[in-house]
Amino acid sequence: CGIIACIGQGAETVDTLLSGLSSLEYRGYDSAGIAVSTASGIDVRKREGELVNLRDDLSAQPISGVFGIGHTRWSTHGPPTDENAHPHTDGEGRVAVVHNGIIENYQTLRDELEARGCTFVSDTDTEVIPHLIAAYLDEGHDAEESFRKAVSRLDGSYALAAIVAGVDAIFATRQDSPLVVGIGDGTYYLGSDVPAFLEYTSNVVYLEDGQSVILRPDGWQVTDSDGSALEPEVHTVEWDAEQTGKSGYEHFMLKEIHEQPTALRQCLSGRLDRLSGDVTVEDIGDLETPVRVQLVACGTSYHAALYGAQRFREVGIPAQAFLASEYATAPPPVDESLVIGVTQSGETADTLSALRAAKGRGAETLAVTNVVGSTAARECDHVMYIRSGPEIGVAATKTFSSQLVSLSLLIESVAPGVDSERTRALVESLWRLAGNVQSVLDNSLDDIEELVDELSGSDAYFFIGRGYNAPVALEGALKFKEITYEHAEGFPAGELKHGPLALVTENTPVFALVTGDDAAARKTLGNIKEVQARGAPVVVVTDGVLEVERFADVVLRVPETDGLVGPLLVNVQLQLIAYEMAAHLNREIDKPRNLAKSVTVE
Ligand code: G6P
Repeated sequence: CGIIACIGQGAETVDTLLSGLSSLEYRGYDSAGIAVSTASGIDVRKREGELVNLRDDLSAQPISGVFGIGHTRWSTHGPPTDENAHPHTDGEGRVAVVHNGIIENYQTLRDELEARGCTFVSDTDTEVIPHLIAAYLDEGHDAEESFRKAVSRLDGSYALAAIVAGVDAIFATRQDSPLVVGIGDGTYYLGSDVPAFLEYTSNVVYLEDGQSVILRPDGWQVTDSDGSALEPEVHTVEWDAEQTGKSGYEHFMLKEIHEQPTALRQCLSGRLDRLSGDVTVEDIGDLETPVRVQLVACGTSYHAALYGAQRFREVGIPAQAFLASEYATAPPPVDESLVIGVTQSGETADTLSALRAAKGRGAETLAVTNVVGSTAARECDHVMYIRSGPEIGVAATKTFSSQLVSLSLLIESVAPGVDSERTRALVESLWRLAGNVQSVLDNSLDDIEELVDELSGSDAYFFIGRGYNAPVALEGALKFKEITYEHAEGFPAGELKHGPLALVTENTPVFALVTGDDAAARKTLGNIKEVQARGAPVVVVTDGVLEVERFADVVLRVPETDGLVGPLLVNVQLQLIAYEMAAHLNREIDKPRNLAKSVTVE
């Protein structure tokens, strides 16, 4: 989702908000809206669909105001409709709010507010915020206090901005979701991302979690959560036009790789209870523990499906992953099976046709997808959202990580209690996952640049791993070939000696993935020795639990974590390697030749 807000002298409010929304358009969204403060109160316009719908509406019935807030929405609660679009209000025109993120305790707040007589008109979690602010206004608090008190009631992730009728100010704050202040010459802006206002100013203040900002026509003030004034640094952004949409990153893919900590927090938000070790996935409603599971998917999502199938089997539920394009030709019996379509877009023709074939045979179906209202989401009996936010780069990155986590959450929520200690360890490491991914992102770039320089020009690149690292090896190779155009293959490490080993030479680097110290990890060491003996350069990506230095030319370390989660960190490292190699070779990274983000033909 995207946020824009502006206030100050000479701001053409509606035009500025619309141009901010259009600068955020590259993120993809399903509805948009603005709220402006006028002489007679707050005027709200919002429309489902492309920005042009909102523009048409505003040209037919123009509004003007002195300051305001705007939003582009990517659905997480409720389908894209006019009602669910932001800004949301208290229903009485006193408060309007735009929000990115997820309010985890929204149901409790909504029940409380409904009991006090508030009427809700949308399915969103956001709508509780304007009602809460209004409730504090009713109790006699001023606008700023009401905003702070409302925010103190929210659990979850948020970047939000609010306006209150009759008060010349924009109130905003963030927790686990980005929000940036733009400092212009007498005009002040807010954006979820710098591009929202970059055409007006390049002076920015990056808000930290828990900080608030109040923008007024004559100035701005950042405070901490209890209202004490802070003096944050003002940065100057020096991006060219092309970098702007990518928030300063060279490519969308790199931006999306770096968005993974936020995307993962969003995916986990409200679904994990660290204290009790409980996992709850509200989206799936009354889905019962399946007797058997089949997963259907393509490309990267198929690798997530392989990981998911293994996880189901581990908790005692027979499960198998199928390439969706093969499934429909000879569909397996589906008795008592839950058939899960894993599909980022929810529109991949092969996956839809596999799901339809399964449904036609009487299977119960579940879509695990990133797109609310997508065909898979609409056609399946159940749906679970992975909540990654839009992904623009053709090569899937953050959605793969969120698919793995979503499938893990799904399994814990439909098959709880199999091994409570295991679940607890998993919950704890999922809790730490975003931080661990961040540390992989922060620590690896220099090593990788050097490595890529050394390895480029090789004949082929192989990726090997066992157990949960096997699908990650396949994904590592897929990412590598998709964007570097170099020959890369992934193998479950044990298969190497049954054929691919014939290809291994001193000119075929092998990336070996080793996490934990279970049988799979130890056997992988054996496989590493096999390739080392053939002279292949060996890069081991590892959490360092097993001593691998002797077998490796290069060791890339990821943080040590649970055995189910370690492969996710390894995968982030492999994404960076693929990216760096493609950049080194000057490839078309965001739009690799011959490939499409979503393939809607079989
Ligand atoms: C295309 C993309 C892949 C993606 C696959 C499945 O081939 O290029 O990156 O993994 O489709 O997409 P889905 O939207 O179903 O996950």
